[in-house]
Amino acid sequence: MSILVTGGAGFIGSNFVLHRLAVADEHVVTLDKLTYAGNLSNLAAAGNDSRLLFVRGDIGDTALVEGLLRRYRPRAVINFAAETHVDRSIRGPGDFIATNVAATHRLLEAVRAYWAGLNDADEAAFRFLHISTDEVFGALDPEAPPFTEDAPYAPNNPYAASKASADHMVRAYHHTYGLPTLTTNCSNNYGPFQFPEKLIPLAIHNARSGRPIPLYGDGSQTRDWLNVADHCAAVSRVLDGGTPGAVYNIGGKSEHTNLAVVETVCQILDEIAPRAGAKSHAELITFVTDRPGHDRRYAIDTARIEAELGWAPAVDFKTGLRSTIEWYLDNPDWIAAVTSGAYRTWIDRHYGGAV
Ligand code: NAD
Ligand code: TYD
Repeated sequence: MSILVTGGAGFIGSNFVLHRLAVADEHVVTLDKLTYAGNLSNLAAAGNDSRLLFVRGDIGDTALVEGLLRRYRPRAVINFAAETHVDRSIRGPGDFIATNVAATHRLLEAVRAYWAGLNDADEAAFRFLHISTDEVFGALDPEAPPFTEDAPYAPNNPYAASKASADHMVRAYHHTYGLPTLTTNCSNNYGPFQFPEKLIPLAIHNARSGRPIPLYGDGSQTRDWLNVADHCAAVSRVLDGGTPGAVYNIGGKSEHTNLAVVETVCQILDEIAPRAGAKSHAELITFVTDRPGHDRRYAIDTARIEAELGWAPAVDFKTGLRSTIEWYLDNPDWIAAVTSGAYRTWIDRHYGGAV
């Protein structure tokens, strides 16, 4: 038995590959292009587990994907591969269209052809699980109830629009061809191996380096924070028990403003890694120009996955944040490796010297 995991060297994908090797007895074929966000060392904890096979390549490379499907005959494909950073999508949507729309479509086509050639039992058991985001639903008003799976699509930035497009294509492949798809729309993840362009690892990294911690606008935007371990457990639940064609929303039931998140990061750091002179890390918080079209609030209603699949988030936000910070403190080599070169160029260009 094997599964094919795309984007398995990125943040969530690598956490999922390690989780899957721990909880299931199956081979995991990982396909990843190793863009700036992909890092093979994220999978180092698997050691030389013979059940893990890594292939560097693009989900849009049809010949490569067809070859992998023919050779390893997976019972499921789990698609994490994507361009994922909203700010980069605002500066240049091209890569987002190329991977999240066009390459995802080519992946779907290759999977459809493979699936159609399976025997009846394998065809019925096969799953294509597509990982998406709550950003496809647009922004919530402060008092509005969290997004259910029936919330209308209203993507507001090029990243969200590209993910929405992929979700629609996955839906169409189920409806038109009967491909047994599953889609998950999750809220903001945090945990080990997250590239420090995203809010939480950026705040930890800058605070530790004594650099300004940039907060967009007034810092009052809110996100629903989901621990990546909880997310991986939810994806496993959907893979193992989800109804083909269904969508499942996954969230942390943990809404916080960006300012509160960054202040909590600073408080924890003050406790476990105090600055020289006992100055608070919070002094480094710096308000910078807001993100264009910045969505004020995302939040997820988890009622469906709780009722149908018995999953609920288990990690308390402060506890999860503390262990995430400890992971970053314990892994300075990982941080050093990913923050050299191209990363510095991005920071200089995007924050214009403010960070
Ligand atoms: P990430 O940016 O850390 O990793 C993405 C991975 O995909 C990288 O390893 C990259 O090399 C790989 N990749 C990119 N283009 C590829 C291509 N064409 N072919 C093969 N591999 C390619 O992203 P992440 O945060 O781990 O997100 C994983 C998935 O979860 C994405 O689909 C994202 O939209 C979704 N998601 C993430 C969050 C979050 O908070 N991080 C929230 C909601 C949804
Ligand atoms: P981010 O981690 O980029 O995730 P997303 O845009 O997918 O929600 O950003 C999380 C929130 O933090 C979002 O409201 C934007 C804000 N933010 C800042 O205030 N400063 C920053 O430097 C970054 C990267 C994000």
